[in-house]
Amino acid sequence: MQVIKTIAELRELRRCLTGSVGFVPTIGYLHEGHLALVKRARAENAIVVVSIFVNPTQFGPSEDLGTYPRDLDRDLKLLEKEKTDIIFVPSDAEIYPSEFSTWVDVEKVAERLEGASRPGHFRGVATVVAKLFNIVQPTKAYFGQKDAQQAIVIKRMVTDLNMMVEIVVVPTVRESDGLAMSSRNTYLSPKERQAATVLFRALSLARQLWQGGEKDADKIRQQMTSLIQREPLAKIDYVSIADADTLEELDMIDRLALASLAVRIGKTRLIDNMTLE
Ligand code: PAJ
Repeated sequence: MQVIKTIAELRELRRCLTGSVGFVPTIGYLHEGHLALVKRARAENAIVVVSIFVNPTQFGPSEDLGTYPRDLDRDLKLLEKEKTDIIFVPSDAEIYPSEFSTWVDVEKVAERLEGASRPGHFRGVATVVAKLFNIVQPTKAYFGQKDAQQAIVIKRMVTDLNMMVEIVVVPTVRESDGLAMSSRNTYLSPKERQAATVLFRALSLARQLWQGGEKDADKIRQQMTSLIQREPLAKIDYVSIADADTLEELDMIDRLALASLAVRIGKTRLIDNMTLE
């Protein structure tokens, strides 16, 4: 396993690699969700590259960039166990030198849901992922269904900018009570941790209603909303039943739909989703 800090070193190394390169971009503080992506990349490629970079440009001014959990030693040990070949850990200045001034802006699909709640978030994500793709030049790159909109935005960017990389989306890894694994779960107090299961409960209700024949999206949104409102520690940011490709809100569920939501549990903002299929 090699830990690389500069773009120049990574480029040098990349030039010597033959065979497929699987790439997993992360912002670190790894858990089983991230490791599912690494395992999939390991199974499908000759070389596995993981990046750990807490990308400042995807955090809003009032968000948790300063307090985002970090533990590089622990991350490196976990990646070693998964037989990762190369870990790319650049500094902020390496990725964003002072003269940096080019951005990737994905329209439409990036403006909804997370994009509406977190202005500038996907501009930061798309820009850093485009840069990382150019640096790593992966054959395949792995993203989690946990961040469904992020995966859709990245696929849009890859298609629109004719990037030579295949995007693989890996199912969400959950705790035994359904809570989707997330580095931000570490912010939760024991009481909040219990309350946080409300996201999975609301999504399961949506799927159950839909499987029972409910096709009226608003009825499902309302039932999800009232379930969440019964949880005193939870505050809804959005509850969505949308077209699974475009993320446009649906009136009737007449095609593949994505139920998704963002909920604040105390000060911690959590997101999750489930397809209705
Ligand atoms: P990060 O939050 O570290 O997540 C890295 C990858 O792990 C993402 O593709 C995310 O969807 C996936 N992931 C996180 N939790 C998961 C879970 N419970 N199950 C399955 N996959 C999960 O997403 C980012 O970093 C950044 O925005 C990044 C793409 C690295 C750009 O900075």
